[in-house]
Amino acid sequence: MIYNMDCIQGAQQYLANDSVDLIITDPPYNLGFGGTNMTKIKRPRFDIIANDKLSPQEYQRFTLQWLFQAYRVLKPGRHIYVCIDWRMYPDMVRWMRRIGFVVKNCIVWNKEQMGMGYQYRFQHEFIIFAVKPDKKVRRIPKRSATDVWSVPRIQGNKTVHPTEKPAKLMDEMILNSSLEGELVADFFLGSGPVALATKQHGRELIGFEIDPKYFTLTTDRLAEMER
Ligand SMILES: C[S@@+](CC[C@H](N)C(=O)[O-])C[C@H]1O[C@@H](n2cnc3c(N)ncnc32)[C@H](O)[C@@H]1O
Repeated sequence: MIYNMDCIQGAQQYLANDSVDLIITDPPYNLGFGGTNMTKIKRPRFDIIANDKLSPQEYQRFTLQWLFQAYRVLKPGRHIYVCIDWRMYPDMVRWMRRIGFVVKNCIVWNKEQMGMGYQYRFQHEFIIFAVKPDKKVRRIPKRSATDVWSVPRIQGNKTVHPTEKPAKLMDEMILNSSLEGELVADFFLGSGPVALATKQHGRELIGFEIDPKYFTLTTDRLAEMER
């Protein structure tokens, strides 16, 4: 089930306490990003994503509010993965801890190909891996799993969202941290990679996306999978 609405209101409206088995989400990083301007037209191909250009105070308030909802709805002992980049990593980790999550590791996504930047071009992002504490914490079943993941990024001119992640990046998180039929939540669907991977692996999904354009895109992609 996915909803075209604000995730904070959506969680309040549709999600009970301790009801979600896994959260995977890619929030706005507050970098005012609408995609690279290194295009033929010399400007970004997309508008700046919603809630990506807030004052530092507004961004902190917004982030603490959705993290509070994420903590409330996640079952004790279960996992949350939050995508972030190196610039916002210290704040996000601090805020996640303040809410109550126990941060376990920082996964490095190696995008395999370089992206933007000119002084060491960007080729990685972080995924914060944390748990809602409980006496019994669900463990990652694969003992051989490491914290560096190489998954090719989607080439700039093929993207349909300014911060699009490949659905393949979600595979490890879904397979390692949930079982078939369990409920996965994504508070910031974007173009829908978590939704697609969740469906592919036979998990249930609840997700929110505030921008009607990206909500429709995700809906269409999910429908396409059924054809
Ligand atoms: C970083 S992007 C996610 C991109 C996604 N991982 C993808 O691969 O397409 C964050 C998304 O959250 C959406 N968003 C921003 N504020 C929101 C809110 N309060 N509730 C729900 N969605 C929101 C934005 O419109 C944007 O599509």
